[in-house]
Amino acid sequence: MADLDKNKNSLDNKDQAWSARFAEPVAELVQRYTASVDFDKRMALVDIQGSLAHAEMLAAQKIISAQDYEEIQKGMAQILSEMKDGTFTWELALEDVHLNIEARLTKLVGDAGKRLHTGRSRNDQVATDIRLWLRGAIDEIQSELTAFRTGLLGLAEKHAETIMPGFTHLQVAQPITFGHHMMAYAEMFARDAERLNDCRKRVNRLPLGSAALAGTSYPIDRERVAKTLGFEGVCQNSLDAVSDRDFAIEFCAAASLAMTHISRLSEELILWMSPRVGFIDLPDRFCTGSSIMPQKKNPDVPELARGKTGRVNGNLISLLTLMKGQPLAYNKDNQEDKEPLFDSADTLRDTLRIFADMVPHIQVKAETMRAAALQGFATATDLADYLVKKGLPFRDAHEAVAHAVKACSMKGCDLSDLDLADLRDACDLGNNANLIEEDAFEVLTLEGSVNSRKHTGGTAPEQVKKAIAAYRKTLG
Ligand code: ARG
Repeated sequence: MADLDKNKNSLDNKDQAWSARFAEPVAELVQRYTASVDFDKRMALVDIQGSLAHAEMLAAQKIISAQDYEEIQKGMAQILSEMKDGTFTWELALEDVHLNIEARLTKLVGDAGKRLHTGRSRNDQVATDIRLWLRGAIDEIQSELTAFRTGLLGLAEKHAETIMPGFTHLQVAQPITFGHHMMAYAEMFARDAERLNDCRKRVNRLPLGSAALAGTSYPIDRERVAKTLGFEGVCQNSLDAVSDRDFAIEFCAAASLAMTHISRLSEELILWMSPRVGFIDLPDRFCTGSSIMPQKKNPDVPELARGKTGRVNGNLISLLTLMKGQPLAYNKDNQEDKEPLFDSADTLRDTLRIFADMVPHIQVKAETMRAAALQGFATATDLADYLVKKGLPFRDAHEAVAHAVKACSMKGCDLSDLDLADLRDACDLGNNANLIEEDAFEVLTLEGSVNSRKHTGGTAPEQVKKAIAAYRKTLG
């Protein structure tokens, strides 16, 4: 009996010790504590993809036979179909996705399955899986991001001429167009796309071949595996390849920034939808009601997006903290990399998908925006600039208009409500009063103000339209 036991595959039996080196099976709580299969099984497809590329290379290098490779292919095809129809059974006792698949393979094809792990360790295997998985996740996120950015662009275009107050310190500052405001977000999300694209380059390098930490003595061909799996290159140091997760941290940082931009937009949507502001409305399908207050329509989607930014930021901090104390090379700590990474990718993808759907349907209340822009002396800077163009130093012009604003505040009217004599009077310019002429009223209009800001990056409708056209080209 003892001899028979010795021949048994240690991956076969969950009640068995890890290997011949161990005198007893792992304690039950420890088994649950150390297992990752519940969350890493979502990497099953890339795990199989990586294993097949590895086996193909082993066969090409004559490290295993062509026959073994064929058996492995057959077994993996069977496993894939079991996964598809839901009959594949995951065992907690088999710890992770890698050992579960290898055990099933060995059950299906025998010795060929046992040869798959030649020249490989779970350390380079898992690093490869995460990179393959993340590459796919980034591509998915990029396509959601493109849809969202396209939606933003459409909204900006529709409102290239819609005037709203621009704010600083949440106080009315100067008139802008809603299209310009949307294009500010389009710029942020363009940088997010750029960042993800840049991060993808560093994700897309092959760790496999590093084995446990030092490489392997088999005559492997890493470039061949990299090519099969679509990696742009191979990791150049085996210790680094199995241990660092900076590529995942970098992704989480990019995801945090993207969520931060979504959160800022969300905050504005929430504020604008408040009846006190009333700049926009959101379609009912993106809002929910209250269980007690029948009149309520709450902007839950933007609120949740703002809230979920917190957990995505938390994921970034988790990974940074996970990494900071680890000596080279692989440590089991790294198993904790997956849940935060998956969560950031899922949250960003879903948020972008919902926003891509929602943004084109934002209902803009142009009249309310315009009325708000007419309050708060949004064109005061324009009057100061007018005086500067007439020769007054800017500081004096600033002071003159401040006088006029004070006078209007007391009267309860706007600068443009004054007639020429009153405006001259209100500016308190003394001998320079006649610098102000009838044409001053042109710059005090909202249109006059926005139209004059027509340089690159300005809010003039003609410039916003130019920016939209240029941006559209980059979206492809
Ligand atoms: N489940 C492990 C992880 O996610 C796989 C690598 C285990 N390697 C080891 N030497 N225990 O990191």
